[in-house]
Amino acid sequence: MAANEKSLSEVIRTRRATPDFDGSPIPDSVLKQILDAGREAPSGYNLQPWRFIVARDPALLKALRGAAFGQQKVETASVVITACAALKAWQQGDLEKMLAIAKEHGFTDEQDESTRKAVTSALSGEPGDICGWGPDWAVWGNRHIMIAVTHMMLMAEALGYDTAPMEGFVESQVKQVFSIPQQDVRVVAMLGVGRLKGPDKKYAGRFPMEHTVFEGAWGKGLKL
Ligand SMILES: Cc1cc2nc3c(=O)[nH]c(=O)nc-3n(C[C@H](O)[C@H](O)[C@H](O)COP(=O)(O)O)c2cc1C
Repeated sequence: MAANEKSLSEVIRTRRATPDFDGSPIPDSVLKQILDAGREAPSGYNLQPWRFIVARDPALLKALRGAAFGQQKVETASVVITACAALKAWQQGDLEKMLAIAKEHGFTDEQDESTRKAVTSALSGEPGDICGWGPDWAVWGNRHIMIAVTHMMLMAEALGYDTAPMEGFVESQVKQVFSIPQQDVRVVAMLGVGRLKGPDKKYAGRFPMEHTVFEGAWGKGLKL
């Protein structure tokens, strides 16, 4: 951890969704740390179904802004990371690649075979199968990709950068900008990273704990 890196609790306390950026470039070393944080996110069976598309080129950011309801921060960010879910990548080679990497890290053939069977059984199922989430692909993709986006957002903030998570875009238009396949890939979120320009967004507060945290049963508010 670098000496000037913010602690996680400070990041959580001070992070705001950045309204606008100053457009300054981001060093490759910082971008790498942010992307590595996303790549290190947990995923079911370690399948890592995310794909991150980095946009730094001004012309590309301008085009991306057009696919994001004209949001200015898309064009002024140092980088926009578009996070996608590659829903069938596990069937298209990722499962075997992941198992080979696990083997390099000391997993046995038996362990790999057991994971292979579990993945195939869980993800080839019908709705309502194992865990009830079988092939509810929109939920499955969202579940994984947002953890990775959160990892990247918090890492960027820890490194002293400002961030803007975004859902305000038209998926079909984002797909066009980046030549993303129409089938089996969903665009889940965009993350702008850069340096804040102008005043930061005001903290708007959060619901009291008992409104959103329950203990034991739905609606039974927990207050600590
Ligand atoms: C998934 C997600 C999507 C969001 N999409 C947008 C967006 O498209 N445009 C925008 O200005 N803010 C967007 N926001 C920022 C929220 O408005 C902001 O997080 C919320 O108002 C709380 O403010 P804070 O993050 O500064 O505490 C998004 C946030 C999240 C987590």
